[in-house]
Amino acid sequence: MRVEEFIPTQQFKAIENGTVCCTAPSNIALVKYWGKKTHQIPANPSISFTLNNCKTTTILKYKVKPSKGLSFEVFLEGKPKEDFKPKIQQFFERILIYAPYLETHHFQIETSNTFPHSSGIASSASGMSALAMCLVQLERLLYPDSDAAFLKHKASFLARLGSGSACRSIEGGLVVWGKHKGISGSSDLQGLKFPSEVHAVFQDYQDAILLVDKGEKQVSSSVGHNLMHQHPFATQRFEQAHAHLDQLIPILKNGDLPSFIKIVELEALTLHAMMMCSDPYFILMKPNTLEIINALWAFRKASKIPVCFTLDAGANVHVLHPKKYASKVNEFISIKLANYCQNKHYILDSVGKGAESIEF
Ligand code: PMV
Repeated sequence: MRVEEFIPTQQFKAIENGTVCCTAPSNIALVKYWGKKTHQIPANPSISFTLNNCKTTTILKYKVKPSKGLSFEVFLEGKPKEDFKPKIQQFFERILIYAPYLETHHFQIETSNTFPHSSGIASSASGMSALAMCLVQLERLLYPDSDAAFLKHKASFLARLGSGSACRSIEGGLVVWGKHKGISGSSDLQGLKFPSEVHAVFQDYQDAILLVDKGEKQVSSSVGHNLMHQHPFATQRFEQAHAHLDQLIPILKNGDLPSFIKIVELEALTLHAMMMCSDPYFILMKPNTLEIINALWAFRKASKIPVCFTLDAGANVHVLHPKKYASKVNEFISIKLANYCQNKHYILDSVGKGAESIEF
């Protein structure tokens, strides 16, 4: 789709007030998005598993107001959350052209997460996709002729403008974002449910999220993305992401786990290597991140279980494995790896179905 297709051309129906509610999950990238152009256009394509248990639920209350302009309040777990406002203000300003009703209504945004806010798990993917889903639910009411498939694309398109990777949380299973020559329909503008055949092993893949560091990140993702602009290895990195997606397409079909593991771990370490050789350079891994990786490699060698790790832009480790090994992997996590987590805290998650609207 083209950007212009997301700009409404008709006048919307007048609805005095009401409430919509949606839930959206987090996602974990296998091929990473790191580096962007203007308007949240990714420098390379990425692919992720949508998760199931780490979710945000957002209730959006709307009321027509007499004068035009953006006006909203935000609550997290029932309490006013002033520090969320600048990011939402920026999001609303960016998407106003696609959602003109934002100016004619006052909004109350009530949000809650299934995971603790201070867990080090980024809530921006689930939070922005839940809010974008709420907005398209409202749009469905304001423009009753809207097509359901179009609105799903639009939810992902809007979510991208809130937080890039959020656009991969609308659909379930495997989601691609960013134009890739081997994936028909892939787009820089929105996420696409991976359109090719997927082996049964990946349908219910498990992700145990080990919470190594629950603190605020020292360097935000936005700063990290921007550092890819003058990065000495940027071109090679973006080419590598394309090549990894090329290689993953047959692997996702035939379930070749050793090849899957090699790409996923190389992607995680390349992401952090890019951070370590940015100017200025930075390190988001902690000593316990490396302890976990080494212990996991030793466990994989000894047990022959095809378990691997990936990392997002932080110190936490995602332990990915097929469901049939879940009890053995979880036992290893509770006995050994939990000792490297803050307060022994970890979250068991798996591939999920994506964002949903909830009757309110
Ligand atoms: O969506 P952002 O701007 O928070 O960036 C996410 C970047 C990574 O999590 C590191 C990689 C990815 O593709 O999700």
